[in-house]
Amino acid sequence: MANLEGKVIALTGAASGIGLATAKLLGQRGATLSLADINQGQLETVASALSDSGITAIFTVVDVTKSSDVKSFIEKTMKEFGRLDGAANLAGVIGRNASTADLRDETDEEWDLIMNVNAKGVFKCMREELKVMKSGASVVNAASVLALTGKAQASIYCASKHAVAGLIRAAAREEGKNNIRINGVAPGFIDTPMVSAVEEALNVTHVDFSPQAFERKGKPVEIANIIAFLLSDESAFVTGAVWTADGGWIC
Ligand SMILES: NC(=O)c1ccc[n+]([C@@H]2O[C@H](COP(=O)([O-])OP(=O)(O)OC[C@H]3O[C@@H](n4cnc5c(N)ncnc54)[C@H](O)[C@@H]3O)[C@@H](O)[C@H]2O)c1
Repeated sequence: MANLEGKVIALTGAASGIGLATAKLLGQRGATLSLADINQGQLETVASALSDSGITAIFTVVDVTKSSDVKSFIEKTMKEFGRLDGAANLAGVIGRNASTADLRDETDEEWDLIMNVNAKGVFKCMREELKVMKSGASVVNAASVLALTGKAQASIYCASKHAVAGLIRAAAREEGKNNIRINGVAPGFIDTPMVSAVEEALNVTHVDFSPQAFERKGKPVEIANIIAFLLSDESAFVTGAVWTADGGWIC
């Protein structure tokens, strides 16, 4: 079991789904947490529940598309804890169309929304995190199985996650000399509000499992487990990886 005792870890997207499950698990494994999300109400609820269970956690309302927000988030983390050992950049959006439109019908607004949060947001977070991280630190970004393959009606989301995979691979090569690791997790369908939004838009009880080997959605904690491993010293020789946890989608 990945031990995170003594590590200070910053997390975006902490108010829901995979981010929420990751915050809980990292806290249970001994990490001190700096949580961020754009959803103030949910973030406050999560932070106070974690604190009630004995986990040290501060929170900051952050829009990852805003450089100033991201900068203040990392500055506050450093001011409070004096170090940053890990970061999980998990904030993301599926878009207003919730992956139901062909590229020929997509809009500039949808492109800007999805790319700004999923790709540019991860870039902005990594930029600030890497400036303060020291040897032994680890970054994990939310990629997706759609960072590794295409899916119809999901062109912009696919493009945003392919961009995340590119950031991971390039930054891993840059940061090797500093002994800072950069990895990503590539989930298939996970049971979170993001996938519920797709199911609602398609008016189905569950998404089509046929691309996966498993005929079910993954649980958020099944992704959190991979993120915890990649943030821990147990994965010390893993960098530049986009780690699939996709129920056998890519196999
Ligand atoms: N659920 C899946 O099946 C799945 C699969 C592959 C990848 N992912 C990725 O995993 C990550 C987490 O997804 P999830 O399923 O938990 O989704 P979710 O919708 O449950 O959570 C996403 C969180 O990101 C936050 N967020 C959105 N825009 C933000 C912004 N501009 N600034 C700060 N926070 C913002 C939301 O408020 C929310 O709390 C995302 O990057 C998503 O693309 C999810």
